[in-house]
Amino acid sequence: MAGPPGLMRIVDLIRKKRDGGELSREEILFLVSGAARQTIPDYQLAAWLMAMVCRGATRAETASLTEAMLRSGEVMDFSDLPGPKVDKHSTGGVGDKTSLIVAPIVAAAGGPSSPVYVPMLSGRGLGHTGGTLDKLESIPGFRTNLSKQEFRDVLTACNCALGGPTPEIAPADKHLYALRDVTGTVESPGLICASIMSKKLAEGIDALVLDVKAGSGAFMKNENDAAALAELLVETGKRMGKRMVALITDMDQPLGRNIGNALEVKECLQVLNGQGPADLRELSIELSAWMLLLAGCTADLVAGKRLAEEMVATGRARDKFREIIRQQGGDERVVDDPARLPQAKRTEVLRSAHSGFVSRMACEQIGTACVILGGGREKQDDSIDPAVGIALGKKVGDSIRAGEALCTVHYNSDSRLREALDLLEGSFVFADEPSAQRPLIFKTIES
Ligand code: URA
Repeated sequence: MAGPPGLMRIVDLIRKKRDGGELSREEILFLVSGAARQTIPDYQLAAWLMAMVCRGATRAETASLTEAMLRSGEVMDFSDLPGPKVDKHSTGGVGDKTSLIVAPIVAAAGGPSSPVYVPMLSGRGLGHTGGTLDKLESIPGFRTNLSKQEFRDVLTACNCALGGPTPEIAPADKHLYALRDVTGTVESPGLICASIMSKKLAEGIDALVLDVKAGSGAFMKNENDAAALAELLVETGKRMGKRMVALITDMDQPLGRNIGNALEVKECLQVLNGQGPADLRELSIELSAWMLLLAGCTADLVAGKRLAEEMVATGRARDKFREIIRQQGGDERVVDDPARLPQAKRTEVLRSAHSGFVSRMACEQIGTACVILGGGREKQDDSIDPAVGIALGKKVGDSIRAGEALCTVHYNSDSRLREALDLLEGSFVFADEPSAQRPLIFKTIES
């Protein structure tokens, strides 16, 4: 048993958790504030994190952890802006690019007399998954490192701002996340929940739509684990007074057809122009509809979908994206001329040796192939190549003949190409008959 706060010893707290005890709110606050101020050595924090992963965090510990991480920094206050504030967050996947579509759709839907605000703070690529900030930064000139005041100015001007967490936002998470990344302590529902929610709650939002990914390309590999995480996230947000919904969605194959930063922006522009792959369009409309419903703009989900589709059909969402790019210093001409996005010097087509149907894709491996090409980071301070990536010719359920293109690899470095191709070659599984299609959305969890 650890003593009163003044007498707390880190080693006692580690032991308590290691032996299956439940840490109190004060004990968690003590650990988290030590992490934020960097007064606790990393080896002790890492030992505590490992005990949390192995023993699991209780609901009360998760709530205390979220609150302590949120309070380790500032909470933005946009209560003076005359409209609801709503955001969307995905737990991460491959080709997972909906943020660049839903943010302008929802911001455009509010209109001048009844604005809806989307203050979206996103992250960078993590492991094999892509990050919204890296995708946005593939637009020449686009700035995501906005100061607090710049973020507010863009939000006021466009009803939407797309930035990265400022140093004032959840600094404890920043430190703990970097440690978790290198100590095998990412995959804990309690730690993931506190990490995500502390940053999202700091945005000063009223409502949040969560896209919790399940499948081989997600952190949660099966639907049950994803549902448990989703419930935890929804409950945590609700307890903090937010309107919440979580969608459990498929990540057993990449979303859309393009993987890689500039290639993904290009695909988002296709969707904003009323084209693009059906799965990406469908999920973007569904997520936007939930955002509009939770923001109180529509009476039900059907009306939300109608409004979201109207924003695309009329070009208002695309025009909003152009406005956001301009406000954040980017080259808005990419919207009408995507060829202005960075382009890889070379392409290589990977052809199938089989005929039949694509029955499965090793989604994480495809994400890793993109990282190897330079589209993601292998180490935290690696720079990334915005132009490289993979354009899928075939997805699960598609028929294929030997010699047909499975995918096209966009690359700049010959030495990386071979390794990426080997991974990609082993990522497609074939069958003689078409397999049953997995649904795109498995489940919705409402608060
Ligand atoms: N994304 C986060 O921000 N934190 C996690 O722990 C996992 C995914």
